[in-house]
Parts: sequence; C-alpha cells; structure tokens
Amino acid sequence: MNINSYDCLLIVDFGSQVTQLIARRLRELDVYCEIHPYQNVNEHLLSQLSPKAIILSGGPDSVTRDGSPRAHPVIFDIGVPLLGICYGQQVMMQQLGGEVKSGVGTAEFGKAFVERKNSSDLLKGWFLDQKEQVWMSHGDHVSSIAPGFEVFGFSPNAPYAIIGDTNRRFYAVQFHPEVHHTPNGQTLFENFISIADIEQNWTMEAYREVAIKKIREEVGSKKVICGLSGGVDSSVAAVLIHEAIGDQLTCVFVDHGLLRQGEAEEVVTMFKENYNIPLIHADESKIFLKELEGQSDPETKRKIIGRLFIDVFQKYANKIENAEFLAQGTLYPDVIESVSFKGGPSVTIKSHHNVGGLPETMGLKLLEPLRELFKDEVRALGRELKLPESFIGRHPFPGPGLAIRCPGNITRDKLEILRKADAVYIDQIRKHGLYNEIWQAFVAILPVRTVGVMGDGRTYDYACTLRAVTSVDGMTADYYPFSHEFLGETATRLINEVEGINRVTYDITSKPPGTIEWE
Ligand code: XMP
Repeated sequence: MNINSYDCLLIVDFGSQVTQLIARRLRELDVYCEIHPYQNVNEHLLSQLSPKAIILSGGPDSVTRDGSPRAHPVIFDIGVPLLGICYGQQVMMQQLGGEVKSGVGTAEFGKAFVERKNSSDLLKGWFLDQKEQVWMSHGDHVSSIAPGFEVFGFSPNAPYAIIGDTNRRFYAVQFHPEVHHTPNGQTLFENFISIADIEQNWTMEAYREVAIKKIREEVGSKKVICGLSGGVDSSVAAVLIHEAIGDQLTCVFVDHGLLRQGEAEEVVTMFKENYNIPLIHADESKIFLKELEGQSDPETKRKIIGRLFIDVFQKYANKIENAEFLAQGTLYPDVIESVSFKGGPSVTIKSHHNVGGLPETMGLKLLEPLRELFKDEVRALGRELKLPESFIGRHPFPGPGLAIRCPGNITRDKLEILRKADAVYIDQIRKHGLYNEIWQAFVAILPVRTVGVMGDGRTYDYACTLRAVTSVDGMTADYYPFSHEFLGETATRLINEVEGINRVTYDITSKPPGTIEWE
C-alpha cells in the first residue's frame, strides 16, 4: 500500500489565502487530499494522482482579465466530480460556456444568507433552518451559467450562489464553505465526498503502516541521518524512521547556540532514555553565532542557518559509511508554501529552513516522511508511535530557534537574556495551568532599550514582548486572552528575575495579519 492506495482528492490552487483550509476540512473528514498550483495541474499530474474528485479553489485574480489563471481543460473531461469555489466557480463558468462580469455592484464581502431554489445531493442537511449563513469574498460574479447547470441556491446579491450539473457531477459555489464563517460548510464537503464516492480512511493508524513501507522502499540498505531539533516534528520523524529501518538511522542533534534554556539536555535525555537510536550531540554554536554576527535581515538569518545546518549534517554524514539520506520533519504547510514560492500564485511569507532555506545543491537526498501531514496530524502520529505525552504536547519550536525571536542583531548577551526570560514566562504559564491551552508561547527580545527606574537607580535595558497564541496547525492563530493579573505578575517576575530586561509588552496580533514568530 502506498499513498496512491488512498482515494485522492485534488485541490487546484488559484492562490486564495484560504486554500489550505479546504485541505484541513477534508483531512478532518479523513480524506486524503493534495493541493497543487493550477499551473502544475496537467495530464501527467492527473495520471500520477488519479484523483477521484477535484476542487477548484478561490483566488485573487479576475477571470475577465486577459492572461488570468485557467484550469487545464482536461480536468473537465476525465469524468470526476468537480467543485468550484469562488474564483473556482467563475473559472468553471468561463471555461464551460457561461459568463462572468466585473465592475460596480458585483463585489460582495462578508456574511450573507443563501436560500434554496432546487434540491441537490450536494445540499443534504442544508436549509433545515430555511437560510444558510455563508461567507462571501468576491469582486466579480457569474452573470450567466454554463449549459447543463441549474441553480440550487441564491442570495440577494448572488443569484448563482450554488449551482450544479448533476449529470456531470460538476458543482460550484460563489461563497467559501471552507471558512468557519460558513458554519455548515463541512456538511457541503461531506456531501461532495459522498457524491464522489471517496473512502474516508485517512487515519494516522493507517498512515503509519504506509509511511514505514515507503521509507523502507526509498532507503533500501543505505544509511540515514536525521536532524533532531527537539521539536515534535523531527522527533516523530526520527521515531517513525527508526521503526522502519532500525539502526540504519543515526540522529544528529545540532546545538546551534539558539536553543532555549535546558533544551539540549532535555532532548538528549529523552531520546537516550526512551529509544535505542544512535544519537550524536553536535555543539556547533560557535560557527552559527559567528556567521550570524552583524546580520539583522530576517531572510538572511534564515538562509545562513539553513546552509549551516546542511554543512553540519554533511560533516557527520561523511563520517558514516553509506549515509545517503538526510531526514527532516518537513510538514505539509511548508511544502505548499515552497511549491507556491517556486511559481504558484500565492506569495512567500518566510523561507522555512526545512524547505526554502536549503541550498540549491546538497550531497544528501532528502527523506521527509511527514511531508503530507499537518501539525495536528503529526501529533496524532506521535501518539500512534507512543512518544511520551510530555514530548507530543510540547509547544512547537522553530528550526532557526531564538534567532527569529531576536529581531535585529543577534548577540550572545541578548540570547542569554532571552533564554532566561523565556524560562520565566513558560514557568508562569505552567504554574497557572495554561500550557496545554496555549498552542505556542515565547518571549522575543526587542532591538530597543528603554529607560526605567528600579529602586533609586536608573536602568537602560531591553524591552521584550510576550507572545502566546491559540491555533490548530499554526496556519492561522489568535492571541491568547491572558488576564491582566497574569500579565502584571509575569511582567513583575521578568523584570525582577531577568537582568537586562526593564520593560514588558504583550503582542496582541492575530495571524493573519501577523505571523506567529516575529521574523
Ligand atoms: P509563522 O511565524 O510563520 O510560524 O506564523 C508558524 C509556525 O511555524 C514555526 N516556524 C518554523 N518551524 N522552521 C521550523 O521548523 C522554521 O524555519 C520556522 N519558522 C516558523 C513557528 O514557530 C510556528 O509554530
């Protein structure tokens, strides 16, 4: 069994900021799906994936503009069910003989209510309360539908809010069923899956077996080294690979000098106590910190760290006979981002070192057994592999470590202050029983000093900011609503216990528009 043994649903990405949410909704329904930028969807990809259904995502362009994105025409001929969403609906109509208009009066943004016009299998469980709340976000609108289509639902501003051609099993909606402002959107996806007769069998129990077989096939008798960061992703990847190939795997834990307080000891102890995996603890902090000296641009920092990681892995790989693979805990959101950045419609926000920050040439082949998974799926797989709960429940920690929590120049002094501040903050969160409620929390040290007064003396020290967010997979996030008492108590502790900090702020930005990390 391999990934192709699952029924696959293909999502054609036209660049919407919420395309990944479509994948999330489907994964929640235990459906295996892949997102591909529209330019990459051609006969070759379709024969590789053999999708049982296709969803066309939304996108920022206008189909009325010359040269705007189109779906490869072959997707309309292969006989699988289609669902067009927003731009995806408009592209379908334009390509199948309908009409789309732009201009004054066609745009609609925000909450709207759709009413039933005709019944359809796509709408089982819909309209029980007469009207359904949906989320609209479109500049253009469909002004005439393609031959063979009929109207199932309409709203005051969208006469073709839900349309379909039941014979061909082509459906299209003007709104976004993937966002939670369309409360019944998941039912619509469920109905579409059932129309496409897709088996809902994408569970981590099944995935584990598939992944182990795939790793064995790919690696053969060669050796693998795995970069351990102490985070959940690389730990799960290491344990999974170890299950597959045993002592053909060596783990390298790179201490780049950008780790949190006590982190190196914690990770090494956890691996040594629980697993019999050969583990090299490489202290390479000098070289990392030296090369980062004087660098303040976020992308430059990421690229330097990515390059040095590879140099270090290569160095250790050279010492292991037959080492051909470098294993990493790359996740699906990183993959999508890196695919988009190589020519997809959406823009790159950051080069995650797992993917974007790697050098063009490298002597090792990449082994990335988690590249189809979202973060919460990795945690589920970790539980499946019986990793200690204390590890699975850890907040995510980025590969570039404290470097991206230290905007501006990185110095050893600042890193030391940051480590101490972070330890106090996390201790506060644990003491108040909030650790598991929060998806990720950390301190960032700001590149600014402020004047303060302590006792009778003047201080001129760094300001820091506290970050804490809730999230499902890090793709979107809300800031955590700490009580004022908690924030006040934490600020007092930080200023009293951490020399070098004299001002504390709390970051109340959600993602989007912010990102979780500061760089
Ligand atoms: P952002 O800041 O992009 O972060 O909202 C989303 C999640 O990804 C983590 N992150 C990284 N993880 N390598 C990683 O392994 C990276 O380069 C990287 N950059 C950000 C971040 O901590 C958050 O959990």
